[in-house]
Amino acid sequence: MKHLIDPTDLTKPEIDEIISLAQDIIAHRERYQGSMSHRKLATLFYEPSTRTRLSFTSAMMELGGNVLGFSDARSSSVSKGESVQDTVRVVGCFADVIAMRHHIEGAQLYATEVSTVPIINAGDGSHSHPTQTLTDLLTIQRELGHIDGITIGFCGDLRFGRTVHSLIKALTRYKDIKVILIAPDELKLPDYIKQDVCERTGIPYREVETMEEVMGELDVLYMTRVQKERFLDEDEFDRVKDSFVLDSARMSLAKQEMAVLHPLPRVNEILTEVDSDPRAAYFRQVENGKFVREALIVKLLEWKDDPAHGMPEDEEPIVDPELRCPNRKCICNNEHAPHKFHRAENGVLRCWYCDSKVR
Ligand code: NCD
Repeated sequence: MKHLIDPTDLTKPEIDEIISLAQDIIAHRERYQGSMSHRKLATLFYEPSTRTRLSFTSAMMELGGNVLGFSDARSSSVSKGESVQDTVRVVGCFADVIAMRHHIEGAQLYATEVSTVPIINAGDGSHSHPTQTLTDLLTIQRELGHIDGITIGFCGDLRFGRTVHSLIKALTRYKDIKVILIAPDELKLPDYIKQDVCERTGIPYREVETMEEVMGELDVLYMTRVQKERFLDEDEFDRVKDSFVLDSARMSLAKQEMAVLHPLPRVNEILTEVDSDPRAAYFRQVENGKFVREALIVKLLEWKDDPAHGMPEDEEPIVDPELRCPNRKCICNNEHAPHKFHRAENGVLRCWYCDSKVR
């Protein structure tokens, strides 16, 4: 069965199928209305969300399906101490597909081990957010007409921004991508993305200090919010919160055909004066998110019993009673998930669930 937990769970042909179905849905919306009647999507949101949850709900409604679930785990049995695995076992009796957001990293991957229905990761801590990635890919495709060959600048919180981590992973599936990282020291991209993703797959990346020095090179500028809720230290947050702000003056340095993306919500990292610039694609991006989630739901249910569309063949996990995942926000330090690991190609041992470096 196919789940979507990490963007690399999808092969390039599968991503292409989802993106092209989304484009067909946009062109012929009426053809798909009713295609999911009598099907149910459960949205299990253990962490706040506006766009992602409503986008899933709206997507399922457009397809004529039904939606159930919770947007506040305190109103579910989780408040009685139910585990993620038990919750999905139960919800799998009520729904055909589950979209789950969790503040604990690796929670959805752990849930797939027992689920009888496809699980979609709608964001796990600062780890991964693959449906935002599909949204971003569809947006780049629609704005620029191609994804291969782009130079993309990621600006802001590259340390905690799960949308950034996921999009970079997915871009390894495309040709001639160049990545420019624009962030202060405190918010730099985690090493596992730089080493295990960019260096391993040969995506060139460069780290710079200012937007100005690279603005003219970019085809896509991917802005992000500083993720206040993921900081452990308030002073550190205050120091970096206004790090990089996009305004009209900076936009004047960019190419005419550049696209500005932002997963939203924004705080003040894009001034509202930029909104009327035709290159500001972030509100179009929101709508693309609904179409791509429609396509994803259709495809996951179509692929459910097709052995040609399983999860990627993983190597055997490494289990060693001496080793523990160091990440306090990982599922194996919050529920009874086993501490297990995989060895990255550069020999580094990483947590199976959250990718934290163990040794
Ligand atoms: C993002 C998220 O939740 O990771 N938003 C979203 O899903 N559209 C980004 C953010 O919260 O800053």
